Amino acid sequence: MNHSYIAGTGSYVPEKIITNFTLEKMIDTSDEWIRTRTGILERRIAQENETTSDLSIKAALSAIEDAKITSGDLDLIITATVTPDMVFPSSSCMIQKNIGAHKAAAFDVAAACSGFIYALNVGDQLIKSGQYKTVMVLGADTLTKIIDWTDRNTCILFGDGAGAVILKSTQEDRGIYSTHLYTDGTLGELLEVRSLRPTSEETLTNRLHYISMKGNELFKVAIKAMTEAIQDVTRSNGIPIDAVDFFIFHQANIRIIQAVAQRLNIPENKIPLTIQKYGNTSTASMPITLDELNKAGKIQPGNTVCFAAFGGGLTWASSLLKW
Ligand code: COA
Repeated sequence: MNHSYIAGTGSYVPEKIITNFTLEKMIDTSDEWIRTRTGILERRIAQENETTSDLSIKAALSAIEDAKITSGDLDLIITATVTPDMVFPSSSCMIQKNIGAHKAAAFDVAAACSGFIYALNVGDQLIKSGQYKTVMVLGADTLTKIIDWTDRNTCILFGDGAGAVILKSTQEDRGIYSTHLYTDGTLGELLEVRSLRPTSEETLTNRLHYISMKGNELFKVAIKAMTEAIQDVTRSNGIPIDAVDFFIFHQANIRIIQAVAQRLNIPENKIPLTIQKYGNTSTASMPITLDELNKAGKIQPGNTVCFAAFGGGLTWASSLLKW
């Protein structure tokens, strides 16, 4: 039976840094409030002319190098994003063109901040089915282009970035055990960007092109959803939670991560964090965190890694793998 395993990782964040102290000068907030309520100290912001696919291309090339393959080896590119450069062509098509992955099919997946796990699941299943052997899965977003910089409830949270993994087919005892996806569309209004329509006076006046969020309610749902998703994925594979070596969480708020960790008795040293320097980079947060862990040489073959995320939709997801 074919399995898919992560053969390489890559990531990229834009150079421009916005600290909490910069935000203090823009809106009625403080470094202290942001730090204690979210764990974020600073975030990276894409330049005006820097797009999601620009960030993705750099992450993709880094993952390709890490996996010791060439672009021509890729059968498929899947990018999880809610901020593609344009409606179409998809970000994945632009990445395919720019890295010269001529053989690869390419499409995007939209499941907001859970998108990376959704895309990972699609890539994994297409390898398990035997259709493909080498798949690149990316999570990439430039949410700072759609945040309302006058709304202190949201603009302090987000940053831009891209992460990528290369999935390869293997028959060895390693790779993705299973992935679990969940959706509750009835809670969609907790986090939304309403307008896909052409800009009008009405959509501009009502700020429908920007993220709106009911943070407080989302906070509680996120803790419950990720806790249960981790319980599901570990239980269904017969692997106790304390046997997992690393938990890669979607980096939305350090207090959400800590609350899940407390409920499941997960020690801090198993939870790599990047939120303090990048904020919530949406679909990119998990592959960036994984890449930093991998490049620091901290994950060893045989380690068990669990992903858990939640996001707009509402969507949430978990995945478990052997490195
Ligand atoms: N600076 C200072 N004060 C702020 C602020 C800011 N940037 N943003 C909100 N406040 C104020 C609020 O207006 C409120 O004031 P009030 O009591 O006078 O009305 C107070 O701080 C508390 O607001 P509240 O919303 O209860 O704070 P919180 O502890 O829930 O933290 C979030 C707010 C957004 C950090 C938190 O709810 C959260 O992280 N939610 C999840 C969001 C998320 O993860 N979104 C992405 C999903 S992928």
